[in-house]
Amino acid sequence: MNINDFIVQVALPEHRVFAEEICEEMLESAKARGTGIAKRSPEYVAGKIIDGKSVIAFHKDGTWAGFCYIETWSHGQFVANSGLIVSPKFRKAGLAHAIKEKVFALSRQKYPKAKIFGLTTGLAVMKINSDLGYEPVTYSELTQDEDFWKGCQSCVNFEILTMKERKNCMCTAMLYDPATQKHDVAKKFAEELEKKPRLYERFMRIKQQLVLKKSTNKGAKALFLLFTVLFK
Ligand SMILES: CC(C)(COP(=O)(O)OP(=O)(O)OC[C@H]1O[C@@H](n2cnc3c(N)ncnc32)[C@H](O)[C@@H]1OP(=O)(O)O)[C@@H](O)C(=O)NCCC(=O)NCCS
Repeated sequence: MNINDFIVQVALPEHRVFAEEICEEMLESAKARGTGIAKRSPEYVAGKIIDGKSVIAFHKDGTWAGFCYIETWSHGQFVANSGLIVSPKFRKAGLAHAIKEKVFALSRQKYPKAKIFGLTTGLAVMKINSDLGYEPVTYSELTQDEDFWKGCQSCVNFEILTMKERKNCMCTAMLYDPATQKHDVAKKFAEELEKKPRLYERFMRIKQQLVLKKSTNKGAKALFLLFTVLFK
């Protein structure tokens, strides 16, 4: 199985029939990982498909293989590529990479001035984001749109996010800013992740300890400092 076995495309309105299967897989994967997710209904996902704001992938035999969609916040100043999912039987073939590349290109085309961001706990997504030019940032650099943060309410870590006054949580924030984009920083970070996957895991363990401490501001600052030192 390799990436040439798949078709990755901007979803067409007729693909809305896959919305239910996509939502079921999102839920199952979240359960398997023991994390929460911003819950999406099949109607919401179908709406994204109809509006031309999503990317879908199929195996060449026609089986649904993966999905991701665009959301806008702060009146279009911020864009998130959300709900990335690859069907378990098609993982580790580079499909998430191909889907994210396509949805990133679609986001840039539709919203050329917007900052594109993501929150993730996963190494796979961090790697892909770095390759696309996203850089790790503090939460204060993300959208402050209440509706975006409401999406975190169904996450198992929501209590921690609230306790930290939305300055920090288990997820790593990453951002692509078209205005100040420094491709070298993102590239260097991508190379470091590739060379030092153990260091990333260590970072995540230390981060969890820091995040769980009471102080909010200090914790966030210490964490960012630690990140910079580890990946220098
Ligand atoms: C995360 C997910 C989308 C990855 O899909 P995928 O098609 O297997 O990913 P890819 O094959 O494109 O891999 C991308 C990179 O991540 C790495 N990777 C993939 N899965 C990984 C894992 N579980 N742990 C660590 N690295 C991983 C790959 O080796 C690859 O790295 P490389 O570019 O250095 O070769 C898929 O596992 C999934 O759908 N998980 C459940 C939903 C989820 O976690 N979504 C993300 C929410 S933020």
